[in-house]
Amino acid sequence: MACCDCLRKILNFCFKYSLVFGVIAIAIIFAPSANYLLDIEPRPLTVLLPNSLRQFESKKVEWKSFENAASIVGPDSIAYDPKANRLVTGSDDGYLYSIDVDDDGNFKKLFQLVNDELMARFQYKRRPRPSGLRFDSKGRLFVCEPMFGVFKVENVFTDKPKIELVFDIEKTSKLGPTSVRQEKPSGGHIIYVSDVSSKFSFQYVTAAILSSDSNGRVLRYDTETGKLDILMSNLFFPNGLEMLPDNRGFLLTETGNRTVWKYTFDDREARVLMTALPAEPDNIRLSLDGKTFWMALLRPRTRNDPLLIDHLMSFPMLRKLLVRLFDMIGTLFELLHRLTTISKLQCLSRQFGTMEILNKGKDEFATGGMLIEFDSNGQIIRTVYQTEGIENNLAWATEVREMQSKNLNERLLYIGSFRPGYPIRKITLDKK
Ligand SMILES: *[C@@H]1O[C@H](CO)[C@@H](O)[C@H](O)[C@H]1NC(C)=O
Repeated sequence: MACCDCLRKILNFCFKYSLVFGVIAIAIIFAPSANYLLDIEPRPLTVLLPNSLRQFESKKVEWKSFENAASIVGPDSIAYDPKANRLVTGSDDGYLYSIDVDDDGNFKKLFQLVNDELMARFQYKRRPRPSGLRFDSKGRLFVCEPMFGVFKVENVFTDKPKIELVFDIEKTSKLGPTSVRQEKPSGGHIIYVSDVSSKFSFQYVTAAILSSDSNGRVLRYDTETGKLDILMSNLFFPNGLEMLPDNRGFLLTETGNRTVWKYTFDDREARVLMTALPAEPDNIRLSLDGKTFWMALLRPRTRNDPLLIDHLMSFPMLRKLLVRLFDMIGTLFELLHRLTTISKLQCLSRQFGTMEILNKGKDEFATGGMLIEFDSNGQIIRTVYQTEGIENNLAWATEVREMQSKNLNERLLYIGSFRPGYPIRKITLDKK
C-alpha cells in the first residue's frame, strides 16, 4: 500500500541518516584533539540547583519604583565619582560613558581606552569592552578591559584624560605555577584580577562555560614592584571581585559554579561563602552603608524547573559535541573565507567559533533576574527578584550600584547589564 510504503521510506531515510549523524557525533566526541578538534573535557556540573527558593523568599522585598535610566548599550559596570557627582560606565561599543546623577536619563559618550597601537598588536582581532570599573580614593578610575588588561584613567571627566595600561594581559600568559617578578616603574596599586580562563579568550565565554573549563584564576598584581601572584586557581568562570570593608580579603563570584568565595589575606585561605545559588552570580559591590554587599544574578530557578542550560550541564558529552562542532564549523567558514574572500563567511566563522550564533535563538535569561544583599558572613539580608513570566525588569542584571537617595526613607539602586538591549535600570526600595 502506498501509505505504508511511504512511511517505510521515511523511516528508512531517518535510520540511514541517523546512523550517519550518530557516527559523526561519536567521532567528534571521542576523536583525540587535533588542530581541527578542540582539546576539551567537560565534566558534569556538581553544584546542584536549590530545592526551593524558600531562604530567598523569606527575605524578598518589592521595589517602590522601577525606572529605565540612560539607555547605553550594555552598561556592564557602574562606578560613581562623588566629587563630580557623575556615574561612569563602559558600553558594548567599547566606549566609556558618563551620566550626571541629577539627570540620569541622559548620557555623554567619553572615549575608548584601547588605542590603535594596542589594537594593532593583536591584528585588530580583539575587541575593546570596558567591564569592571571603580574609582580609588583620589578619583582615579580603574577599568578592566578583558582582552587587553587593566587601565588607569586620571581626569576622566575632562577633555584631557590620562590613560595608562597598568596591567597588561600578556603578563597572565607568561604565568607559571609560581609567581613571576617584573620590573615596573612606581604606581602604587595592588590590583586583583579574575582571569576567566587560561585556555579560552574572552570572546569564547559560551565555549568556556559549556566545556566547564576550570582553568580560571584570581591574580594579584603590584603595580609598584611588578610582582604577580596567583591567589586562587581551578575556578570555573571566576568573575566579580570586591574587597572586604576592612581590606583584609575579598569576595569572589565563581559564576560557572554558582558559588561565592571569601578569601582572607592573613591565612591565605579561600572559603565557600555561598554555594548552590539559584542562578549564576556576577558582580558584587559594597552597599552604601559600607557593611553589606549587593550581588547581581541571572534568572533564579530550582531543581524542579531547570532551564535548558541546566540540562546541558548534566550532559558533558553533549556539550563536548556542541563545542567541538561549532568550533569546526567556524574553522570551515574561515577556510572558505580565505579561499573566496567573501566577508560574510568571516562573520559566520566568528559567530560559530564563539558560539554567538546561539544567542540568536531563545534567550532563557530574558525573563527573571535576581539581586541579593548579604553580609561578609554570607548571611542574606534582602533579595529582589523575578523568576519568570513576561516580566524582564531584572533580566541580565550584572551589577548593582547603590546610591544615596534624595528621599532618606528610600534606598536607590542602579542596575547594570553586560547584555546589549538593557539600559541602566533604577529601582528604589523601602529602607526599613
Ligand atoms: C565549585 O564549588 C564548590 C563549592 O560548592 C567547590 O568546592 C568547587 O571546587 C568549585 N569549583 C569547581 C571547578 O567545581
